[in-house]
Amino acid sequence: MKKTAVYPGTFDPITNGHTDLIERASRLFDKVIVAVAANPGKQPMFSQDERVYLATQVLSHLDNVKVSGFGTLLVDYVREQKASVILRGLRAVSDFEYEFQLAGMNRRLAPDVETIFMTPAEQYAYISSSLVKEIAVLGGQVDEFVHTEVMAALSDRIS
Ligand code: COA
Repeated sequence: MKKTAVYPGTFDPITNGHTDLIERASRLFDKVIVAVAANPGKQPMFSQDERVYLATQVLSHLDNVKVSGFGTLLVDYVREQKASVILRGLRAVSDFEYEFQLAGMNRRLAPDVETIFMTPAEQYAYISSSLVKEIAVLGGQVDEFVHTEVMAALSDRIS
C-alpha cells in the first residue's frame, strides 16, 4: 500500500532541522506532504504564502515531497490528502509533553490516523525557528541553520 505522510508545522521559516527530518522521511514514505499551517496565533514573521514558497524552494531536490498550506483542522487536512500518517519531530525531552498531547488529541479526533515521531540529526537538536529569527534580528550569523534562500528572505525582512 502506498503510504503518504503529512508533516505539519508553522515553518516560520523552514530550518535545516526541518529539512533533515523531511529528507529522512522522504526515504521512508512514498510521499511526504509538508503542510504549512496558517497558525495566526504564532504571529509569524512570514505570511503563509511566503512560508510555502520558501519551503518549496528549499525542498525542490526531493521528488516525492510536496509543500502546501492549510488552515483547517490537521486531521481533516490529512484525510483530504488521503494520507494516513502525521509525522512530527522530537528534538528533546522538552518537546515530548506537547507532542504527546497533540498526538493524543489527533487520535481522539481521527483514530485511523497514526502519529509517527522521528528525531533530527544531533546537530539540529537545538534549532528552532524562533531562535533563528532572534539571532538574525540581532545581527548574528544563521548560515549554519537555514538554507541560503531563507537567509536572503530573513535579511530582506529584517532590513
Ligand atoms: N528541526 C528544527 N526545529 C524544529 C523541528 C526540527 N526537526 N521540528 C520542530 N521544530 C521547531 C520549529 O521550528 C518550531 O519552533 P518555534 O516554536 O521556535 O517557531 C517548534 O519546533 C514547534 O513548531 P512546529 O513543529 O512547526 O509546530 P507548531 O507548534 O508550530 O505547529 C501544528 C503545530 C501546526 C502542527 C498544530 O498547531 C496544528 O495541528 N494546527 C492545525 C489546527 C489543528 O488541527 N489543531 C488541533 C490540534 S489537536
